[in-house]
Amino acid sequence: MNLVCDLGTTNVRAAVAGSGNKIINEPCVIAFDSLRGAIIGVEAYRMIGRNPDAIEIVTPMEGGVVKHLESVVEIMKHCVKRLTRRGSFTRKFNLTLSIPSGLTQVEQKALKDAGRLAGARDVKLVNSTVAAAVAVGLPIESPIGCLVMNLGSGVTEAALLSMKGVVASHWVRTGGHAIDEAIVERLKKEYSFLLGLHSAEELKREVCNDRKSNEFEVRGRNLKTGLPDCLTVPRSVVDEQLSSYCDTIIELIGHTISACPPELVGDIIERGIALVGGGANISGLVSELSTRLEVPVMVPEDPETCVIRGLLQGQRSIQRNSVFDFSSIIPAAAAKEVGGGEK
Ligand SMILES: Nc1ncnc2c1ncn2[C@@H]1O[C@H](COP(=O)(O)OP(=O)(O)OP(=O)(O)O)[C@@H](O)[C@H]1O
Ligand SMILES: [Mg+2]
Repeated sequence: MNLVCDLGTTNVRAAVAGSGNKIINEPCVIAFDSLRGAIIGVEAYRMIGRNPDAIEIVTPMEGGVVKHLESVVEIMKHCVKRLTRRGSFTRKFNLTLSIPSGLTQVEQKALKDAGRLAGARDVKLVNSTVAAAVAVGLPIESPIGCLVMNLGSGVTEAALLSMKGVVASHWVRTGGHAIDEAIVERLKKEYSFLLGLHSAEELKREVCNDRKSNEFEVRGRNLKTGLPDCLTVPRSVVDEQLSSYCDTIIELIGHTISACPPELVGDIIERGIALVGGGANISGLVSELSTRLEVPVMVPEDPETCVIRGLLQGQRSIQRNSVFDFSSIIPAAAAKEVGGGEK
């Protein structure tokens, strides 16, 4: 059995190659309840911010890195259970995990260890942008430059791919989650209002979906009175965070393009940039980026599942012995973490 898995800061997606293409897509959250044991996925996600002290809630991945090994193992086992017919895993499996380009050897080892502890015989790591490019159908095996941006919750990565290789890649350990946190902080400072992280994410999505309204109502705690309260939030509070995220994306694209040969730059001007990951759903992002960068920007259908679909497609190609094989992908020699230590 070949399990493919995209472990994200907010969501985990997993599938088994050759099993009807069923993909599970759940919050990457685990709650440890002393009475019920480990609760994983949507139920655990709903408990965040509402849990008593007796229930510990863990989001075990952050920015592509294992933050809590035991929980990552539990989540992997949960994926196997959900994807195997018998509801339990009786045999070993091979595991392919997607990762950002610039993880250190230690960070990569932690993921491999987690896979083996979950029961994997062999653990392979594949770059997330490469997997996404496969799902999008970009010609990454040809001598043509393809620029892919993965806009996740804890990782934002730009990668230029050509001839089965990552030519250049830049990334930051920030994403949609940081936008939510910034909204919470701003409301606390400027409005003395405490908004939960879930509510901040909902507000962000609402602002993204509704381009007309200028004000949005949220519920939280008034920090002056200590009582539950409603607050009318001007859309500018959210728009400013989205626009600052857009600046980050442009900066990453700039770094990536400046590190690549001129012929490939020409390809990007002609072919444009593909956005994948949950952040690609941010409305207005495509027009903002295409206007500021003066290149076409496209978002494939269902951008948040591109990575897992690409991993699955790669597995199918291997099984069919057809041309594509992730093991032949050449990783970037110098993936750079912007604002962090160079890897
Ligand atoms: N319609 C939308 N509008 C705005 N943001 C959205 C929308 N849909 C999803 N997002 C954001 O996308 C992020 C989740 O994206 P994704 O599932 O790709 O992240 P992840 O894979 O869990 O994290 P990472 O890969 O960075 O570790 C969340 O921050 C979520 O708020
Ligand atoms: Mg992701």
